[in-house]
Amino acid sequence: MPSVFPTPLTKMFGIRLPIMLAPMANVSGGALAAAVTHAGGLGFIGGGYGDRDWLTSQFAAAGNASIGVGFITWSLAKQPELLDLAIDHAPQAIFLSFGDLRPFAARVKRADIPLIAQVQTLRDAIAAREEGADVIVAQGTEAGGHGASRGTLSLVPEVVDACAGVPVVAAGGIVDGRGLAAALMLGAAGVLCGTRFVASAESLVHANVRTAAVAATGDDTLRSSVFDVARNIDWPKPWTMRTLRNGFTAQWAEDFDGLRENAGREAARYAQAREAGDTDVAAVIVGEGIGLVHEVAPAAQLVRQMADEAIRLLGR
Ligand SMILES: Cc1cc2nc3c(=O)[nH]c(=O)nc-3n(C[C@H](O)[C@H](O)[C@H](O)COP(=O)(O)O)c2cc1C
Repeated sequence: MPSVFPTPLTKMFGIRLPIMLAPMANVSGGALAAAVTHAGGLGFIGGGYGDRDWLTSQFAAAGNASIGVGFITWSLAKQPELLDLAIDHAPQAIFLSFGDLRPFAARVKRADIPLIAQVQTLRDAIAAREEGADVIVAQGTEAGGHGASRGTLSLVPEVVDACAGVPVVAAGGIVDGRGLAAALMLGAAGVLCGTRFVASAESLVHANVRTAAVAATGDDTLRSSVFDVARNIDWPKPWTMRTLRNGFTAQWAEDFDGLRENAGREAARYAQAREAGDTDVAAVIVGEGIGLVHEVAPAAQLVRQMADEAIRLLGR
């Protein structure tokens, strides 16, 4: 079926809709990725910090859907063999965020798989283009999960202007058809959405996380390293993680020294809360766009709604 939004992104991947599911660690499994692809977009498994068995099981869960896979680049550098595992599954694209592409770009190119790079600054966008990225995702600070400080509204067109010839995808704060239409107006070839799909039926989060997410407003998020310190994950600068504020952030977001002094106890409390779905302690990882998300729905419905609304707004 021809695309109603013919963009360089829909052409590159032969998809109907310029909507990509973000490769969210612990959220975007094979079933969610497949649902987004079957609805006309492009789904990604979130390879996250890298777990071979989990990744293999999620490729299986995606069945024969055409999907891609994403990794946290600095973490992949610690287990580069996972890239081979991913390539063996012939994904539609390899999506790398947060770190130096150079150790991996040539391997992805040799496999003839499109390389998508997610960046947070103009400088990193230009570097990604020079390193051969086939698609650049410009992620603004509104985004859920890890990111940096630039806002989506000016970062996207600046990257579009600087990276002519490379499709640019907008990310950060895009959860509905208004966001999709606006991103296309900024010159983006498509959108990457995470937060909207956290509150989808197929996401792998605890049910309490979905409930807390849909109840929140855009004012309720915070960008901080507090949960990385609590989980003892050594995230490099400048990336911090946007989550909902909760009891844990109120206690520790302004007191990393205190958190480190109580590291053992707090790490155990955090792990327990995550397992139990206690969202006053465990992180609910969403972006500012969560204020526009009011219900949980199947991913296919979300993709269709977003596309229909954008079509209406753009008068197509
Ligand atoms: C729960 C969650 C987990 C995420 N995990 C990852 C990840 O593992 N790797 C990655 O590249 N980006 C991750 N992100 C960021 C997304 O790739 C994307 O930039 C972001 O979701 C876009 O903004 P939005 O949340 O406003 O849609 C995550 C985002 C969320 C909400």
